Amino acid sequence: MTKETLQNITVEKNKNSKIGEVDFDNLVFGSVFTDHMFVCDYHDGQWQDPQVIPYQPLTLDPSARVFHYGQAVFEGMKAYRDDEDQVWLFRPDENFNRINKSCERLAMPEFPENYFYEGLKTLLELDKDWIKKGFGNSLYIRPFVIATQAGVMASPSNAYKFIIICSPAQAYYGGEVRVKIADHYSRAASGGFGFAKAAGNYAGQFYPTNLAKEDGFQQVIWTDANTHEYLEEAGTMNVFFRIDDTLVTCPISDRILDGVTRKSVIDVARDMGINVEVRPVKVKEIIEAANDGRLKEIFGSGTAAVITPVLGFGYKGDKWELPKQDSTYAQQIKKRIMDIQYNKAEDKFGWRYKV
Ligand code: COI
Repeated sequence: MTKETLQNITVEKNKNSKIGEVDFDNLVFGSVFTDHMFVCDYHDGQWQDPQVIPYQPLTLDPSARVFHYGQAVFEGMKAYRDDEDQVWLFRPDENFNRINKSCERLAMPEFPENYFYEGLKTLLELDKDWIKKGFGNSLYIRPFVIATQAGVMASPSNAYKFIIICSPAQAYYGGEVRVKIADHYSRAASGGFGFAKAAGNYAGQFYPTNLAKEDGFQQVIWTDANTHEYLEEAGTMNVFFRIDDTLVTCPISDRILDGVTRKSVIDVARDMGINVEVRPVKVKEIIEAANDGRLKEIFGSGTAAVITPVLGFGYKGDKWELPKQDSTYAQQIKKRIMDIQYNKAEDKFGWRYKV
């Protein structure tokens, strides 16, 4: 192992790269990781010792708070390689701000901006060969923070690890996606932490999503916990509905993730001249529009999912299939966003960040 210090970051290079063993044409999302990881520890009241080290298991005390109280938050970002071999991030400032909002809500310390960007840059410099060219290829970047203090007292930890791992990625959903609209289970409640990218928000969805899978759906669209009358988000994506030629999505709230792709979709769609309404969306309205033939599309947006068309939905035992379209809003908006991400088009919004 060789050690060197790049600005603030200590680097220990991996001498045994696994890259030659990876089939980059057949990646299962989130199953292969690059050669290095970024790690920074919080103790004695500050973040310290930022390092990039070979990807490796962690050693933690079994009583560490993260295992018992789920004090854990994460982010999802992507790096893209353009045709000239330059590497880009997409709106990383949004992820940086959001992880700190998530940290605040879970009583975890904010992470410093210079460590975040320097850590990312150092890691991507070392693992840049894992970012493959071509539309649809990317490197999924997973920053996360866990509470490491030993002891099962139900109180915030005084020690944390901030870690970034990276995984070469293609599509998140391999096949067709149909969704079940929730009428019993809930993802988040008002005053809760649905807006945070907290690990527990995802674990709580696994059981109801498994039930939905038994009925032939890949995802659940969550509805408001009080009445189940309003559509909110799908667990891995925000959701958009095209009624006639208007795109409708619900406003963000303390129950809903403020998705980076969601806000990009809204801006790009408006820039394309599409009428976008950000307002509460009733389940009843969507069912009536589907019955009248006015519901033309549903799609989800997210970093991992990018823009994923939803082909049909179910509600209380009934099922609807959406009409097949030649040129969908989902395809058109996805192309515009990916053209920016892959440096194929002008970035009029200033979203690209060169690494
Ligand atoms: C992302 O899109 O980055 C997410 O965090 C969703 C995750 C469940 C894959």
